[in-house]
Amino acid sequence: MARSDQMKALLRAYAGDNKEHFYAVAMQMAADEAHRGHTKLAAELRDLIDEAKKKTSFVNKPIPLAQPKGELSELLTVHYPQEHLQQMVLSSSVEKKLQRVLREQRNIDRLKAHGLSPRRKLLLIGPPGTGKTMTAAVIAGELRLPLFTARFDSLITKFMGESSAKLRLVFDALKSTRGVYFFDEFDSLGLQRGSQHDVAEMRRTLNMFLQLIEQDTSDSLLIAATNHSKDLDKALFRRFDDIIQYDSPDEAQVELLLRNKLSLFSPPNLDYATLAKHGQGESHADIVKACSDSVKDAIMDDRDMVSFDEVIQHLEERSQRKSL
Ligand SMILES: Nc1ncnc2c1ncn2[C@@H]1O[C@H](COP(=O)(O)OP(=O)(O)OP(=O)(O)O)[C@@H](O)[C@H]1O
Ligand SMILES: [Mg+2]
Repeated sequence: MARSDQMKALLRAYAGDNKEHFYAVAMQMAADEAHRGHTKLAAELRDLIDEAKKKTSFVNKPIPLAQPKGELSELLTVHYPQEHLQQMVLSSSVEKKLQRVLREQRNIDRLKAHGLSPRRKLLLIGPPGTGKTMTAAVIAGELRLPLFTARFDSLITKFMGESSAKLRLVFDALKSTRGVYFFDEFDSLGLQRGSQHDVAEMRRTLNMFLQLIEQDTSDSLLIAATNHSKDLDKALFRRFDDIIQYDSPDEAQVELLLRNKLSLFSPPNLDYATLAKHGQGESHADIVKACSDSVKDAIMDDRDMVSFDEVIQHLEERSQRKSL
């Protein structure tokens, strides 16, 4: 290949984020230089390529835009979240635990070099709307991994044999494509209503699921979430590297959520402390929804600020819903 073509190919590979191709073209250039008798330059180029390849650790390898195919596409949905930890309002203990997971994952190569494995199996427990699903998205977003969400509706069939084959398929995917695999309300597996016979089958499927979690040694992250902590069999806790307990926001956290969500539409001197008192006891999700309802009102009325009374009204509307 002429030098000009090689340079173009090199730039194209770089722009297309195709590292393998980039290195292949670079090696070709080194080989051509050797042919031309420029042995010193050729050796230098090869050394540079080797050095660059070493730095491209496994963590930085581009993850193929993985769309589950065939039967797997019914069992897993995938997307690439853009969420970040900063967007979450959390208690300091939950935040510390999440930071630790991210830190260990970011140091996966170094830990593995010492025979250690980073935390990767997490159980999130907490009431609705406190950020469990969001956490799975944040972890995927922060680590730039695809988020695969298991669809239990298609995973569970009446036939135990079929369900376990499907579960195995999902756990094979954990091995073949590194990502965050999210199993929401996984305990519903064992709690489905139905005939006695069905219940027994469901329980067996749940047990199978727990066994597969235990056996899994992939590099993927596995996150299971549930609303119920009481009904959980304590024996299952040991299958996870971390148990993270979510709770409704306290007053300070409600205030922070309100400030974050209303900031673009906030009148000066908005009394956040009083608003936060009204929002106490609500979930994060309800506070966020009350904020967007207030912002919607402002937009539709052609105002660039929310009104204190409207925010209070929306917060109260959310809390009344609970008593319905
Ligand atoms: N801790 C949080 N910080 C900021 N926003 C939050 C938080 N928790 C929830 N939210 C907001 O509420 C929405 C719904 O939350 P999410 O779906 O994560 O709750 P969940 O705990 O998974 O609830 P469920 O148990 O019903 O599945 C999020 O998309 C986000 O907008
Ligand atoms: Mg959820």
